[in-house]
Amino acid sequence: MNLKSKTDKVGRNDPCPCGSGLKYKKCCLAKSGGHPPDLEETYLRKYGIRLKKNPDIEGIRQAGQLVLDTLNLVESKITPGRVTDEINTLVHEYTIKNGATPAPLNYRGFPKSVCVSVNEVICHGIPGNRVLKDGDIVNVDVTSILNGYYADANKTFFAGNPDNDARKIVSIARECLKRGMSAVKPGNTLGDVGWSIQTYAEAQGCSVVREFVGHGVGFDFHETPQIPHFGHKGAGITLIPGMVFTIEPMINLGQKELRVLDDNWTAITRDGSLSAQFEQTVLVTEDGHESLTPYEL
Ligand code: MF3
Ligand code: CO
Ligand code: CO
Repeated sequence: MNLKSKTDKVGRNDPCPCGSGLKYKKCCLAKSGGHPPDLEETYLRKYGIRLKKNPDIEGIRQAGQLVLDTLNLVESKITPGRVTDEINTLVHEYTIKNGATPAPLNYRGFPKSVCVSVNEVICHGIPGNRVLKDGDIVNVDVTSILNGYYADANKTFFAGNPDNDARKIVSIARECLKRGMSAVKPGNTLGDVGWSIQTYAEAQGCSVVREFVGHGVGFDFHETPQIPHFGHKGAGITLIPGMVFTIEPMINLGQKELRVLDDNWTAITRDGSLSAQFEQTVLVTEDGHESLTPYEL
């Protein structure tokens, strides 16, 4: 990754990539005495964002492949009659067998190795004795640490035969991630990502959860910046190559409001409506993006 060539693409009259809102020539270009500033240093100092270099990206990609393999393994076990704790056992054992660590286990007191969120559960469902029923929608969110690198992805599956509402919310959530990812390219902003998700979800009569957001990832589970799944075109931090973050829109069939259960983790829709989610770990490249947990949307 060549930082100098990246900064060369910013015009003197363009908005400064540091996000100040000033023109580049009045801001970082001036501060640096007319030389392109070191964006890596600027993004760290200004936003706390740690850009990833090629060896880091390869490490996250390998962790990502394990996450994908885990999700594929889990898919066959999403059937009516099973309890969610069986999914936890499968994810835990498969992760360890592959020389990795399940990031959720003991993370801020989370008691299990994977999040399993059924129907009205938005996210952070704790695997336990809930029995899957025919037609349930089941989100499985896997984060693995391999050789010190984190990758984070999730999918929503069907147990048995879904009804029309279940099909609808899952297909809209999937499309939301696809649209959010399409907005990821250098020069676009985080607001562009959120806007593309929110406008689509709301046009379909659904709502976007506000309390939980995507996040920088790779060196740690949750890094800066936060990635809201709502927002305004052109607002927020400008995307630059080397940023790695998740996009993970949680989309409700009804209202956006949520409630957290007494276990202090399980987030459910206040109105009891269905909620679905898809998540991938995304790298900003020189000319767009690359998923480090790629699966078909
Ligand atoms: N994997 C979730 C995310 O996408 C975070 C789960 S935190 C846990 O950010 F503690 F519940 F595992
Ligand atoms: Co995440
Ligand atoms: Co996740």
